[in-house]
Amino acid sequence: MFQWKSGGMGMDSSDIVDKVFEKATKGDRLITNPDVLKLDYIPNKILYRDIQTEKIASVLSPVLNLVKPSNLFIYGKTGTGKTMVTKFVMNALENKKKDNKTVISYINSRTSGTIYRVLSDIAYTLKIKVPFTGLSVSEVQKRIFEYLKENEIKLLLVLDEVDFLVNSPLKKDGGNDLLYELTRYGSYANSNSFISIIGISNDIKFKDYLESRVYSSLHDEEVFFPPYSVEELKDILKERASIAFIGNAITEDVINLIAARSGGEHGDARRAVDLLRVAAELAERENAKKIEIRHVQEASKNMEQDKVSEAISSLPIQEKLVMLTIASLKEAENTGHIYIKYLNTCENLGIQPLTQRRVSAIINELDMLGLISAPVINRGRYGRSKKISLALDRNTTVKIIKEDEVLKNLSI
Ligand SMILES: Nc1ncnc2c1ncn2[C@@H]1O[C@H](COP(=O)(O)OP(=O)(O)OP(=O)(O)O)[C@@H](O)[C@H]1O
Ligand SMILES: [Mg+2]
Repeated sequence: MFQWKSGGMGMDSSDIVDKVFEKATKGDRLITNPDVLKLDYIPNKILYRDIQTEKIASVLSPVLNLVKPSNLFIYGKTGTGKTMVTKFVMNALENKKKDNKTVISYINSRTSGTIYRVLSDIAYTLKIKVPFTGLSVSEVQKRIFEYLKENEIKLLLVLDEVDFLVNSPLKKDGGNDLLYELTRYGSYANSNSFISIIGISNDIKFKDYLESRVYSSLHDEEVFFPPYSVEELKDILKERASIAFIGNAITEDVINLIAARSGGEHGDARRAVDLLRVAAELAERENAKKIEIRHVQEASKNMEQDKVSEAISSLPIQEKLVMLTIASLKEAENTGHIYIKYLNTCENLGIQPLTQRRVSAIINELDMLGLISAPVINRGRYGRSKKISLALDRNTTVKIIKEDEVLKNLSI
């Protein structure tokens, strides 16, 4: 009897060719599916977040019957799945809704950057044309409100990393005003149109920055995302590894190590998946068929250094000057010595120096950020003093700091 060969039915010829070419370009690489290791990847199977997924879905579900959902506040530490789960539910709602009067807008307040940009990004998702600059904040807001009312739009507005709107002195008032206006939309519009706000934050101090009237209306409902345990991270990593790599690329030991490094007090799945990706890339570069413990160790070291470099380059100028002064010293010194040297550097640059007290406070701050180490040393009858040294090696530190326009010509 004639039998179809497997794969011989229902496959386009172009699919067959694509498959051959794909295999040829990939060779037998370790990472067969790099997309699933990317940060914006939303897995089909989200582990350990059933309670949160269900709560978010149930708070938002009235929108399917055109009824206004309560405002919702989602919080928890970084890398606990807030953005991912919210986007997952949003996508599901988008597929389920039957009318085109319901609009779901996702805005990341940090990447938008300013109050104006947040508003113009909202306008953009509604397809309202707003210039990049030139209008006042209140004008853009008015145009959005008018549009929503006229067209009877029901808006689910996700404001991710919403703390960025209010946690800097510059944005504090504007951010509170914007959030207040958004929560007050109901008193302007009629019942055919509404805005429900889904705020997301990883900043536990967020509510301290909010005016109480804003706080209470944003918190109609709330959902908490706890950090993952090491065991939970192991399962998340295994699941991801099973779709990212060729078989047998990863062992239990390696998973355990990555989970241990990302777990503990952090419970950060982003860090875990990132560490998995960087370790896999290192292994692949060596043409290794397996990810080894040493790849994880090296990846971890690289990522730590990247984090420190980033932190140094985003320091304010005085903090950089203090670090540069520390870097210019031959050995670990105490605060007094550093201050004298610091005064010299300021004079060279024509910069007004800070008081010793302020510099001392900066040193504590740098220590807390892990950019320097400043252990207190007991010197017997001479009292106690700090021996201050750098976290990264001297050359790297100086190189990063000298990328700053103001400091680039300094001879250190
Ligand atoms: N339960 C999970 N299952 C699978 N992957 C997860 C899970 N939780 C988080 N991740 C992974 O961790 C990464 C970080 O998650 P997410 O971006 O949602 O964190 P977050 O809570 O929004 O953090 P932040 O406060 O820093 O924005 C995601 O890219 C995702 O790959
Ligand atoms: Mg997030």
